[in-house]
Amino acid sequence: MFENKIVLVTGGSRGIGKAVAIEFAKNNANVVINYTNSDESASEVINHLKEINPVGKFEAIKFDISNHDITEEKINYILEKYDKIDILINNAGITRDSLFMRMKESQWDDVFNVNSKGIFNCTKNVVRSMVKNKYGKIISITSVVAEMGNPGQANYAATKSAIFGFTKSLAKELGSKNINVNAVSPGFIETDITDVLPDAIKKKYMEMIPLSKFGTPEDVAKTVLFLASDDSSYITGEVLKINGGLYT
Ligand SMILES: NC(=O)c1ccc[n+]([C@@H]2O[C@H](COP(=O)([O-])OP(=O)(O)OC[C@H]3O[C@@H](n4cnc5c(N)ncnc54)[C@H](OP(=O)(O)O)[C@@H]3O)[C@@H](O)[C@H]2O)c1
Repeated sequence: MFENKIVLVTGGSRGIGKAVAIEFAKNNANVVINYTNSDESASEVINHLKEINPVGKFEAIKFDISNHDITEEKINYILEKYDKIDILINNAGITRDSLFMRMKESQWDDVFNVNSKGIFNCTKNVVRSMVKNKYGKIISITSVVAEMGNPGQANYAATKSAIFGFTKSLAKELGSKNINVNAVSPGFIETDITDVLPDAIKKKYMEMIPLSKFGTPEDVAKTVLFLASDDSSYITGEVLKINGGLYT
């Protein structure tokens, strides 16, 4: 389905980003993943992608998306090497949870620098190539927490809410250039981010989920692929919920 397409997945070394990269590889896309720390995990992902599609092009590039100049340099490298980026998945994100009364400025800033500034840095440097090619799909990962709020996550929820306004505004700016801009809003998905939560919190969430199960990274990946495909070419400025009915 994605032959000859070049996909950039930020935060593709683990969790949802890894599942998205795998799903694209299964559908014949060429995939560049980005990450910041986990070298071993990133190279395992690349080896796995090569097993899935031995003729595909796959590469992992280590850089911190919160750093504008480095992000610009690395994205320019990708554009020079592969000639274009057709599909950008703004997936990388972090949490620095704390009740607001105790939240440190650094916890607020860290989450904004990665989850919000990081999306600016990546999208800004990719979009010119999409406009030139009159083709592009930009899909960002927000969260159910942006929609329903969550104690201890005022910083995270604020950054994820920003994705709603960003997506809807950019969809209006870029629609005439044949660029679709959408987001997905996962609920409770089993990854490293949710693994650290206390059992009592997990139990509370489970009781609120009508489908009575947590989501998997693959559930999110399949929806991302739908939004990146021509099957959804008339959808833009949309945020699709993937939350088992947790929040409708
Ligand atoms: N899991 C959930 O329940 C859930 C629900 C709703 C939304 N989300 C969102 O979905 C996205 C993925 O979540 P996840 O659960 O898969 O997270 P995860 O397992 O913690 O993986 C995060 C990924 O982002 C990368 N990353 C973190 N900071 C980065 C930076 N500054 N620059 C570049 N890459 C960076 C990590 O790289 P390293 O491996 O090098 O650290 C890793 O590949 C996030 O935006 C998250 O907010 C998750």
